[in-house]
Amino acid sequence: MSVDNSFESQVEQDQVAVQDGLQLIEFAPQQRPLIEEVLEGLTAKEKSLPAKLHYDQRGSMLFEQICDVDEYYITRTELALMREISGAIGDTLGNGCMLIEPGSGASLKTDLLLSAMPNPAAYVPVDISRDFLLESATAIAERHDIEVLPVWADFTKGHPIPSCEAVVRNRAIYFPGSTVGNFSRSDASQLLQNFASMIRDESDDEQIHSEGAVVVGFDCKKDTSRMEAAYNDAEGVTAEFNYNVIDRLAQELRVSLDREKFTFRADWVEDEGAIVSRLWVDESHTVEMAGEAVRFEAGEAIRMEESHKYTPDEFKTLAQQSGLGMERIWTDDAADFAVAYLRPLSV
Ligand code: AVJ
Repeated sequence: MSVDNSFESQVEQDQVAVQDGLQLIEFAPQQRPLIEEVLEGLTAKEKSLPAKLHYDQRGSMLFEQICDVDEYYITRTELALMREISGAIGDTLGNGCMLIEPGSGASLKTDLLLSAMPNPAAYVPVDISRDFLLESATAIAERHDIEVLPVWADFTKGHPIPSCEAVVRNRAIYFPGSTVGNFSRSDASQLLQNFASMIRDESDDEQIHSEGAVVVGFDCKKDTSRMEAAYNDAEGVTAEFNYNVIDRLAQELRVSLDREKFTFRADWVEDEGAIVSRLWVDESHTVEMAGEAVRFEAGEAIRMEESHKYTPDEFKTLAQQSGLGMERIWTDDAADFAVAYLRPLSV
């Protein structure tokens, strides 16, 4: 996934729609045609597919199943940790905070945080999937007495921040779930820089008179065997999550990609500091796609996803390189997962 550094600050009138009683900002992600993105990835020297292709409807359902798999410790560890620390985070954020959540998804942890925040000003979920966004925004609006202002956008490409009725004392970005792990180290740094500029003081909004914060959940480096097991679960749910991308492309692009010709495996790659998920080609074959013959050689692989892991020190360095200081960090007792509280460094 690549990250742009262009940020729009104004919301244009024609970008606002009313849906299910919510005011939705439509910053419609200008998407490249699927076939273009897929061909680019599959004709490169090292084949790859964009990680976001995992999340069609079936894929999103499979991801929710992954979160319940025994070997996948991430979701349950983060949720337990947030139960312990959301009070402390809420206190630190203080009154009148606008909470922005890029890639909001199902928002279970957000419930905990919003409940712990004293008089939050507004909640701004940002997501690329319009249906999913509206569904979770509606659910949050039902459970919390707070202005909910969903933004339909690709958060890696930049988007405007809506204004709200309440006075906003500061803005905070909540980026849980180790979503940051899906970005390479340099893209993660660009993303954190974008977040830093979204919450900085010198915004065009005169109401804001206090620097905000970025709260990020990330997965910590640990025993290779545990990290690999989390992505090679015995039930094969994660494998299915990846084969589903092949099925989806076969169907949507009407090409003869066949999942039976691939084998899934996720490996720890030490120099990248990441679990790399790949589909290995079992037998050489050629697939015709939009008039191009795409050759798959036995023994080569399609890179499907990266899940980067950090030690707390490595994450602190990454944050600093992005203009953010690590003010606090919390981990569970086993130090499997961490939540960092970042603030803009003075420039
Ligand atoms: C949602 C990106 C945090 O990398 O751990 C889980 C996605 N992929 N199992 C991760 C995922 C396979 C997950 N993130």
